[in-house]
Amino acid sequence: MHGLFDPLRLGAIELPNRIVMAPLTRGRAGREAVPNALMAAYYVQRASAGLIISEATGISREGLGWPNAPGLWSDEQVAGWQRVAQDVHRHGGRIVAQLWHMGRLVHPDLGGGRPVSSSAMTAPDHAHTYEGNKPYVRARAATREDIRRIVADYARAARNAISAGFDGVQVHGANGYLIDQFLRDAANHRRDEYGGSIDNRLRFMTEVLEAIGAEIGMDRVGIRFSPNVLVQGVEDGDPIALFGAVAKRLEELRVPWIELREPRLPTSAGSVPTDPVSPAMRHIYSGRIVINSDRDWAGARRAFAEGDADAVSLGRLFIANPDLVRRIAVGAPLNEGDPTTYYSGGAAGYIDYPMLDEARAA
Ligand SMILES: Cc1cc2nc3c(=O)[nH]c(=O)nc-3n(C[C@H](O)[C@H](O)[C@H](O)COP(=O)(O)O)c2cc1C
Repeated sequence: MHGLFDPLRLGAIELPNRIVMAPLTRGRAGREAVPNALMAAYYVQRASAGLIISEATGISREGLGWPNAPGLWSDEQVAGWQRVAQDVHRHGGRIVAQLWHMGRLVHPDLGGGRPVSSSAMTAPDHAHTYEGNKPYVRARAATREDIRRIVADYARAARNAISAGFDGVQVHGANGYLIDQFLRDAANHRRDEYGGSIDNRLRFMTEVLEAIGAEIGMDRVGIRFSPNVLVQGVEDGDPIALFGAVAKRLEELRVPWIELREPRLPTSAGSVPTDPVSPAMRHIYSGRIVINSDRDWAGARRAFAEGDADAVSLGRLFIANPDLVRRIAVGAPLNEGDPTTYYSGGAAGYIDYPMLDEARAA
């Protein structure tokens, strides 16, 4: 059985350990969505992770609806990320960019026009805007023309990620955003070749992955899902059938790794209508599986022992513990995170969590 400190290869990327930093939106990029020195400092502090998955990063203005989140469509954004990737590499780390289109969850106030989704629907709850929370706006159903354009936007963002020096990309297929809005039947009511049967609902994801793979090579591509979570109004009537088909498709496309946000109990992720699907996917998909959500290392070791996963990704623990890998290695106590500063902007609660030696000295 492998352990947390055994190396792992995810396609073209060699990880020195199996403790991955989960993607974490932190809202520090400013309105122009350009990564900055503060963000570089934050990622450098966490460079000992086996792999850093960046915070979700907009592929286009249309797809980005989170205040102060970064993007990857402009030259300024590429230059900003260049500094982040360079600094992480200089400190011995690896980093992939999580590529994001939020679909119906983008409020028009963020500058992207009327939101686009698989179907003309309104998401439940409220959108984040610079003036606070507002009700979501009804999305329009993507035309074939929109789909072609959005697929091209994903490819451009992937190309930009490689230009910026990222080691690869992770496509955000989880948490009720655009790809999830096509995949799962609660949000996809289309009657054309992008809706209805499972095969049709897989089409958009497939086109995105093919376009990105053609652009940067599939050995640098991963994808994230949240198969058993009801999140932002998105769920599926038959997750085992859907994600079994997803696993088969990823196998055909030779996507080398996936990350699954699969909580076992209602938690941070929202409610959990079904059991995890990773054991079923494991039989169909021969790539690497990174499991996520509410895990500690004992839970990760159990999943490794049961053969359900190759690596674990940790989110909130990495927010509060930049040197999490070392703390796990030596069995040190952990800092508590402060949720009020998750998205608050600025350095507080971002780059000021103590490292082990500082904590000892304090
Ligand atoms: C502040 C915060 C920001 C998050 N941002 C993202 C994100 O950008 N992309 C994503 O796929 N998941 C995001 N998530 C979900 C986490 O990646 C992870 O799935 C979740 O925190 C559960 O893992 P944990 O129990 O290890 O924290 C976010 C979670 C938190 C708490």
